[in-house]
Amino acid sequence: MSVRRLAEDKFQPASFAFNEENAAWAEATIRKYPEGRQQSAVIPLLMRAQEQDGWVTKPTIEFVADMLDMPYIRVLEVATFYTQFQLKPVGTKAHIQVCGTTPCMLRGSEELMKVCKKKIHAEPLERNESGTLSWEEVECQGACVNAPMVIIFKDAYEDLTPERLEEIIDAFEAGKGSDVPTGPQIDRIFSAPEGGLTSLTEDITPVRWGEGQSAQADDAEKAKG
Ligand code: FES
Repeated sequence: MSVRRLAEDKFQPASFAFNEENAAWAEATIRKYPEGRQQSAVIPLLMRAQEQDGWVTKPTIEFVADMLDMPYIRVLEVATFYTQFQLKPVGTKAHIQVCGTTPCMLRGSEELMKVCKKKIHAEPLERNESGTLSWEEVECQGACVNAPMVIIFKDAYEDLTPERLEEIIDAFEAGKGSDVPTGPQIDRIFSAPEGGLTSLTEDITPVRWGEGQSAQADDAEKAKG
């Protein structure tokens, strides 16, 4: 897990502002929360800012804090805690977040990180020469049953081998990331067992609520004779 600090000053822009569309969206989002609870909008606002500019800058943090009437330190705490917020510029075509927590580590995440080091940069959170790719190690992303896995922007790619990750990185670099299926990269449906179901394999005839009720009533009538 890398230390999460704001980017150096040389990366920081002079200011931040939402564009017109995002400003209207931000105002509407803030209004969803009860009076006095507007600070609850901090995560959606930071995420929208990141989607607009690609990462969360120091001026972004101050801008969102001012919008929500929060101390800067409170917004900084949120931005530095959650790894979905990027605190320095990341690859424009893909930022690969490799889960390195125990289940993924036991299933080969260290080999996935070797692929990232080879294909992108030896150090996490550093971009490749063209600025299109970057990577980092993150903590559990909640898909342990399909370990090892990576997140690229908002999508998860699971049941990975080093070879499959190389193919995925190549696809994103070629601008064809949207062609890569998300989720399991093997013969697995969602988080079901690999290779098909091992239990609950029989066909189940669904019973509707109304049908079940009348059947019970019929049984009761028959019992009365
Ligand atoms: S340990 Fe990797 S997704 Fe949970």
